[in-house]
Amino acid sequence: MELIKVKDYNEMSKRACSFIIEKVNNMEKPVLGLATGSTPEGLYQNLIEKYQKQEVTFDHVQTFNLDEYVGLKKDDPNSYDYYMNEKLFKHIGIPREQTHLPSGDAADLSQEALQYESLIQEAGNIDVQILGLGLNGHIGFNEPGTQFSSRTHIVQLDESTRNANARFFPTIEDVPKQAITMGIDTIMQSKMIVLLVSGEKKANALSQLIDGEVTEAFPASILQTHSNVMIIADQAACSKL
Ligand code: GLP
Repeated sequence: MELIKVKDYNEMSKRACSFIIEKVNNMEKPVLGLATGSTPEGLYQNLIEKYQKQEVTFDHVQTFNLDEYVGLKKDDPNSYDYYMNEKLFKHIGIPREQTHLPSGDAADLSQEALQYESLIQEAGNIDVQILGLGLNGHIGFNEPGTQFSSRTHIVQLDESTRNANARFFPTIEDVPKQAITMGIDTIMQSKMIVLLVSGEKKANALSQLIDGEVTEAFPASILQTHSNVMIIADQAACSKL
């Protein structure tokens, strides 16, 4: 794993943006894996600015998001579909049919998980996967204890994750209890992974990810075994290294 230490959130976002643009401009049919949460918002804002300055286009790009809440409709402001559209897709001229998220409101969720997995494989797997880091070491919505061999699946969300994400919902009761997420092995099939980490509250998790043992009890630790991982982390997140 390569660790790039940057000053702050803005620098992390800019660094990630330059990296993605370089890939998108130099690849014929790039497949990007995208994440939600607060961490990648600055990256998406930077990508929009670069698109507006005509430094990049996305018509040849396909995207796959990591995860989605179960039970929320696509137009629910808390769905990840809505988030991606508002914070990125609708501003960068990417044909919506080239963007993919698992459907959290599918009638048959197991079938949806299988189909999502097949779509990723048909696209030739993900070239660059953007990841955030959960406080408990989750990646996507793969909570501690998830098998490293997992593929796209339905998960029960940890109370700690529901609490961490409650800030986006009117009350904690409104936070879904389940999600559909790429599995750990799905993520590990990505040719390259860019993990973004910002803020002091992530410092323990980042230290465990880099220096801890590889264990299903801390899902992100599997990244130590991937051959092409770049971590872009700010000073505050690096404070426990
Ligand atoms: C969420 C998402 C993850 C995200 C993580 C960190 O629950 N499912 O994909 O990376 O938690 O979120 P944040 O960036 O808001 O700290």
